[in-house]
Amino acid sequence: GVSQRAPSDHLGPDYKPTDEKPTATVSTKVSHENVTILPQTPQLIALLTMIRDKHTNRADFIFYSNRINRLLVEEALNHLPVLPHTVTTPVGRTYAGVKFEGKICGVSIMRAGEAMEQALRECCRSVRIGKILIQRDEETSKPKLFYDKLPEDIKERWVLLDPMLATGGSALMAVDVLRSKGVPESHICFLNLIASPEGAANFAQKFPNVRIVTAFVDEGLNEKNYIVPGLGDFGDRFYTL
Ligand code: PRP
Ligand code: URA
Repeated sequence: GVSQRAPSDHLGPDYKPTDEKPTATVSTKVSHENVTILPQTPQLIALLTMIRDKHTNRADFIFYSNRINRLLVEEALNHLPVLPHTVTTPVGRTYAGVKFEGKICGVSIMRAGEAMEQALRECCRSVRIGKILIQRDEETSKPKLFYDKLPEDIKERWVLLDPMLATGGSALMAVDVLRSKGVPESHICFLNLIASPEGAANFAQKFPNVRIVTAFVDEGLNEKNYIVPGLGDFGDRFYTL
């Protein structure tokens, strides 16, 4: 016969009680209130599953990580200020709406963070992009700053991009660079694909006013400070593997 169950009973992440849900649908809880985790929709879980799979090739990795980056950008835009803006519609009525202030500068932590620039450009036409080159030392996992190039008026602008938040060393160093240019902590919105609980906690401790928008908080770090279950080396999978 025809199933009597509502669609929500057997579709998507709500089809089971919380304690019976597959681990893929339950992001690790973080106490820091400035961390926004994207809603764990069936679509997002499927996209995360694609990019975590070690058998996913580079073309698919680029395509599916881009789709998640779009979701991150769309969510992050909700955290930026808007101004009242009234328009007149074609039927002669006014509509009291809002518009973005338009004071954005994407700042990518090279090289993996550059992979998030496309999604930002798709949503914010001709957005300014600044670059910070920080690389983790493969042996010690400690970040090293090589280069930065940011717009003159960076003090008034915002968005920070890096797909992987592992120990947090790289992202914290990038925030230090931005702070040294006069950017207030509260203007920083860090867009991130996968975070470790350790990385998120480090951020919360050092920069409690920096906002983080992430797609998922994983279990933790392995002995090489890679995120687990994670997706491996993002930069290698996106650019060279
Ligand atoms: C990766 C990643 C982050 C950093 C995260 O970059 O893109 O920037 O490590 O680790 P952390 O939170 O422990 O600092 P990596 O230095 O490997 O360079 P890449 O972007 O060129 O791959
Ligand atoms: N950088 C990555 O690309 N992946 C990790 O898991 C940690 C750092």
